[in-house]
Amino acid sequence: MSAQPMHIHPYERNWMVFSAVMLVLFATAVSVAAFGMGIQVPAPEQRVDPRIVATDPNSPWSNPGLREVSPGKYDAYILAHAIPVWEYLPKEITVPAGSSVSFYVTSSDVQHGFKIQDTNANFMVIPGQVSKLTIKFNKPGTYNYICTEYCGSGHGIMYGAIIVTP
Ligand code: CUA
Repeated sequence: MSAQPMHIHPYERNWMVFSAVMLVLFATAVSVAAFGMGIQVPAPEQRVDPRIVATDPNSPWSNPGLREVSPGKYDAYILAHAIPVWEYLPKEITVPAGSSVSFYVTSSDVQHGFKIQDTNANFMVIPGQVSKLTIKFNKPGTYNYICTEYCGSGHGIMYGAIIVTP
């Protein structure tokens, strides 16, 4: 058998070139977004023990709520649970307009979601893990947060509110 020079149909070659170019474009877009523009997906901030996260006195979620870390900057520790009832703790937080709030959200039982209306915050809340995202609230108003992962019969009533005062 003699070796034949490999023949590639022009259509096939064009698609191969197109695919290679697209891969380079995607890799460039992701790299620019991540390293150039600092766009990050909500990262697992830390691990916690979901069995004690709501009761351990050393756990910030044993006393969930807002902490002012510096003028205009807040940490919000939010606990999601289905037991004994479907709710977030706290149900409501109030900050002045212009505040930057870092949300630390975890669950003491099943998987929940956390979406803040009129913002791009929308992430999963996974037992054993802390989800963190920082949002700046410039416009006064009420921003509801709702559960976006089906978590049982009370899923539909699981919500809270961020009140941004002028
Ligand atoms: Cu919590 Cu759905």
